[in-house]
Amino acid sequence: MFNSLLVSLLHCLLLGATAQAKYIAPGARWRDTEGNVVNAHAGSVVFDNGTFWLFGEYKTQAQPEGGGVSVYSSTDLATWQSHGLALVPIQGHPYISPQMIIQRPKVVYSEPTGQYHMLWHADNSSYGLLLQGLATADTIAGPYSFVNATAPLGNWSQDFGLFTDYKDGRSYALYSNGDTKEGRDVYLTAYDEEVSALDQVVYRFNKYDLEAPTIVQTEKSYYALMSHKTGYRPNNVVAFRADKLSGPWSQPWIVAPLNTRTFNSQSGFTLRIKGKKKTTYLYLGDQWDGNSIWESRYIWLPMNIDDDKKTLQLDWYDVYDLDIQSGEWSPVKGTTYLGKDATTSGNAFKQEANFASGGTILTGIYGNDSTVTFHGIEGTGKPQWVSFYYQNIDDMGFGDQQ
Ligand SMILES: *[C@@H]1O[C@H](CO)[C@@H](O)[C@H](O)[C@H]1NC(C)=O
Ligand SMILES: *[C@@H]1O[C@H](CO)[C@@H](O)[C@H](O)[C@H]1NC(C)=O
Ligand SMILES: *[C@@H]1O[C@H](CO)[C@@H](O)[C@H](O)[C@H]1NC(C)=O
Ligand SMILES: *[C@@H]1O[C@H](CO)[C@@H](O)[C@H](O)[C@H]1NC(C)=O
Ligand SMILES: *[C@@H]1O[C@H](CO)[C@@H](O)[C@H](O)[C@H]1NC(C)=O
Repeated sequence: MFNSLLVSLLHCLLLGATAQAKYIAPGARWRDTEGNVVNAHAGSVVFDNGTFWLFGEYKTQAQPEGGGVSVYSSTDLATWQSHGLALVPIQGHPYISPQMIIQRPKVVYSEPTGQYHMLWHADNSSYGLLLQGLATADTIAGPYSFVNATAPLGNWSQDFGLFTDYKDGRSYALYSNGDTKEGRDVYLTAYDEEVSALDQVVYRFNKYDLEAPTIVQTEKSYYALMSHKTGYRPNNVVAFRADKLSGPWSQPWIVAPLNTRTFNSQSGFTLRIKGKKKTTYLYLGDQWDGNSIWESRYIWLPMNIDDDKKTLQLDWYDVYDLDIQSGEWSPVKGTTYLGKDATTSGNAFKQEANFASGGTILTGIYGNDSTVTFHGIEGTGKPQWVSFYYQNIDDMGFGDQQ
């Protein structure tokens, strides 16, 4: 996303967390237990029999789409073991061939069928079909067998989301209706008991041109998060709140600080973790990399929800420690090294910036001979995370650049 842009450093932060520890580092390169990059884009997480299962789009440079659905398991949401592909593309298949689009996969256990049901946005490469796919498996990791790809209640479906109400177990599909003018809405539609077919529309978010929908449920509220439609460029994700899924839903509000475009991420999924001491709600966003989509990363952050004030907000943490047993989490602390104390060489220079710590940014860091050096950094002697705070100044070209 930033390759062609001027990125100016504000400061860097050396964190106490060791790189191997069980911490969540939003936006870092996550590796699985075999050392491979976690490849599960636009993912969703299901908790099943004590284990978290992450399903997502499998992307490679050679095949950014149509790679199938990957699956990983974890007991702490930080250590991920790969189980390969849960949905394997089939050459020549009308809906799951490598030439087709398999996006935003979700998995839910169906009590009546005793099987796991995988649902996704099924499409062709020009997004002309706008269907929802269904595949089933006897075990959660699959492999899943294709069942059908259908038009939801005869309509179009884009950017598929799935929500299961923890109070009554009912599942719902969320989908936007496509990019046409008539398609400016997002549907919330109940599934039948089997979670095989859609039953009826429960609510229609009309007149909003939004996508990547997800719902998170608290004791008293439902919060629906969605992003605007700006392709793989991040924008300000919004949330709506309601007491009931059928509404009335509130006006939308922006969930993260302006100018961060939701910390460079798009909504996609949310996860409720009911621990022994606390219930924590995680935002599972995608940090799409428009230049190399297969290398896109994940922004997972705890949501700050206040049901009395009816607010939901995302705050940034470089690295945090989440205890899924207690449900508690805490940010990992570090030492900050300011740009104003660094030295520069070549074309790099310091510039006044009243928003930066110390009032100074480091900029002009191009080419081979322009450097900035932070001094006096003391590590623990073990691998540690380092965070760089930067300014991305493509505001002027918003919508035109990636
Ligand atoms: C649940 O997990 C336990 C321990 O991993 C395993 O022994 C058991 O067979 C699992 N149960 C089901 C229904 O998968
Ligand atoms: C996708 O499907 C639509 C609707 O059938 C069709 O018009 C379009 O040509 C298809 N695109 C490709 C690339 O096959
Ligand atoms: C289908 O979409 C159209 C246009 O958005 C809408 O008017 C209609 O109510 C939808 N019907 C269903 C069943 O979703
Ligand atoms: C897709 O398959 C499911 C499960 O068999 C079934 O309930 C549903 O009606 C099918 N959809 C269509 C449109 O055939
Ligand atoms: C850096 O140096 C290498 C080797 O001299 C050169 O090929 C490359 O173009 C240089 N890159 C930039 C950005 O100046």
